[in-house]
Amino acid sequence: MNHYFSENPQTPYKEFSVVYELCGRKFISKTASGIFSPKRLDLGTKVLLEYIIKRSNLDMTNSSILDFGCGWGAISQVLGTFFPEANIYYTDINLRAFDLAKKNLNSFKNCFPEKSFLDVEGVFLDTKMTNIKNKYKFIISNPPIKSGKKALQVFTISALKALENNGQIFYVIHKNLGADSFVKWVNSYLLKAYNIGAVKVSSAKGYRIIVLKKQL
Ligand SMILES: C[S@@+](CC[C@H](N)C(=O)[O-])C[C@H]1O[C@@H](n2cnc3c(N)ncnc32)[C@H](O)[C@@H]1O
Repeated sequence: MNHYFSENPQTPYKEFSVVYELCGRKFISKTASGIFSPKRLDLGTKVLLEYIIKRSNLDMTNSSILDFGCGWGAISQVLGTFFPEANIYYTDINLRAFDLAKKNLNSFKNCFPEKSFLDVEGVFLDTKMTNIKNKYKFIISNPPIKSGKKALQVFTISALKALENNGQIFYVIHKNLGADSFVKWVNSYLLKAYNIGAVKVSSAKGYRIIVLKKQL
């Protein structure tokens, strides 16, 4: 079956442009059919980015960030402008999405030629993270909920392999799509197996922002 999380989407290629505004800044991206939310910035992604930028008090300057399941690249694009000194990496299993993110983020880098420090790079990680070279301080994701509960658990365990010891994972999940049961699963299974716990740090517009990190 053909989904937005298919590796090679079979949907005929149709290109779109998305213009969006976030925290007072305007962005433009190329998107296409066969990938997640090709016609607009997803509301969950918007809620997640607004939380990180306006409310979390997190300074991601000089940190390495992984945009895990990048889609057409909104998370990297936005974080790259708000934290231009961070090292941002993006990856996606869907090759069409990954290629679009690469195009968007390369042309975005060209808009700031004076900022040689703007570092946004694509890494193609296999789904089990066996080819991982770097570990990341922050992993940010609007995870692929529609791929099912089991797949979300596997995705999360993969993310843990890429996380620095004192790092944090930020997820956005809709309350009607299993946010609370995901937190319960982390605080039972992942806590026992990896000493990783989850906290719901914010709720807005039906979405929960969930932070996963090592417990002291
Ligand atoms: C809900 S979408 C979010 C896309 C984008 N970050 C956004 O906010 O618009 C989840 C993304 O995760 C990707 N994905 C699913 N499983 C993955 C895996 N194992 N490794 C990397 N990406 C994956 C999907 O292809 C999809 O692009």
